[in-house]
Formats: sequence, C-alpha cells, structure tokens
Amino acid sequence: MTTNRTLVIVAHPNLTESRANATRLAEIKDLDNVTVHNLYEAYPDFNIDVAHEQQLLREHDTIVLQFPVYWYNVTSMLKAWIDAVLVYGFAFTFDGSASALRGKKAWLAVTAGSTLETYAADGLARRPLDEYLAPVTQTLEFCQLDYQGFHAVYGMMIEPSDETLALDAKEYRRLIANRETPVG
Ligand SMILES: Cc1cc2nc3c(=O)[nH]c(=O)nc-3n(C[C@H](O)[C@H](O)[C@H](O)COP(=O)(O)O)c2cc1C
Repeated sequence: MTTNRTLVIVAHPNLTESRANATRLAEIKDLDNVTVHNLYEAYPDFNIDVAHEQQLLREHDTIVLQFPVYWYNVTSMLKAWIDAVLVYGFAFTFDGSASALRGKKAWLAVTAGSTLETYAADGLARRPLDEYLAPVTQTLEFCQLDYQGFHAVYGMMIEPSDETLALDAKEYRRLIANRETPVG
C-alpha cells in the first residue's frame, strides 16, 4: 500500500540544547504528509508503546531515522526503539511471509560532532561514518526495508555557523518535501 507519507522518528535526548537537529526539525515542521515523532518526548521513561509505534510504521511508506551520533552509535532511545519495535512477526519472520515493513523506503538523518576528515582511515575515528551505521542499515534491510542512504552533517564540535546549519536543514527539507532520498 502506498501512503505517500513520511515518518520522521527523532531520537535526540535534549532538543532544547541542540543546534543541528533542532534546526532540521524547525525546517520540516510545516510539511504536509510528514509525521514528526519525537521518541524522547513521547517516552521519557523509555516505556515504549510498541503497538503504537508499529501502527505508525504501517501508516507511512518512507521512514527517516533522525539522531545525533553518540559514541559511534545511535542514541540509547533509538536502540531501545529498534529492540522493542522491530520484533519477530512484525518486522521479520523466518517462514517466508512478508515483513510489515517490506518495501518501505528508509534513510538516516545523522549529525556528528567530528569532522568528515576525522571519519577516515587516517583520522581519529579510523573509519567512515557509514561503517558505524552498518548495524542500523543491516537491521533495516533484514526487516525488508529499502535502505536509501544517509544525510549527514559533520563537525558539530567545531561549531559550524548558523548559515551552514541552515543550508543543511534546507537540503533536509528539500529531500523530505520532494520525497527524495540522500545520495550518501
Ligand atoms: C554522549 C555523547 C557522545 C558523542 N559521541 C560522538 C561520536 O562518537 N562521534 C561524533 O562524531 N560525535 C559524537 N558526539 C557529538 C554529537 O554527535 C553532536 O554533539 C551532535 O550531533 C550535535 O547535534 P545537535 O546540535 O543536534 O545536538 C557525542 C555527543 C555526546 C553528548
């Protein structure tokens, strides 16, 4: 079923102190056919309503996971959400029957403190960011989602200008509004 609706799952623990993620969210908040779902706001005690989350996923055909990189990983809420929501019978089976997520498009919207140069074999992070995202992308593909890539802003620790973040957020809005997906 095609719904032409995009679900943006946001997993940032402190949006009031955020620059990159908050700028992105402000830029997409008026878009039609887009549901923005803030997990830390919905579940301050990490008590995830699994049935509600699964219903939201069913009702959208493009899923965007938006989060800052924390210790080369997703934030703890996003990991809790993945573990609770993407369960056997809903997100995957072993008997050949289809996942409820089959064919939905999925992509990642990430923000990183370190620079792009840091995410290289000769940089402090020692590998590119996509290698750190592999557990998530493999999870999405295992659940038969159609993984499209990631949209990243790097170097938040060197405090990019407001203009740089505004440009990043405009590109984010453009991708979502046009139902396009990132190249990365
Ligand atoms: C607990 C913690 C761990 C972090 N680990 C990383 C990391 O492994 N790699 C990285 O590039 N940035 C790391 N950062 C920086 C965040 O990714 C960065 O502050 C965030 O993306 C900025 O987005 P915001 O302005 O929306 O908060 C970390 C930040 C915190 C608070």
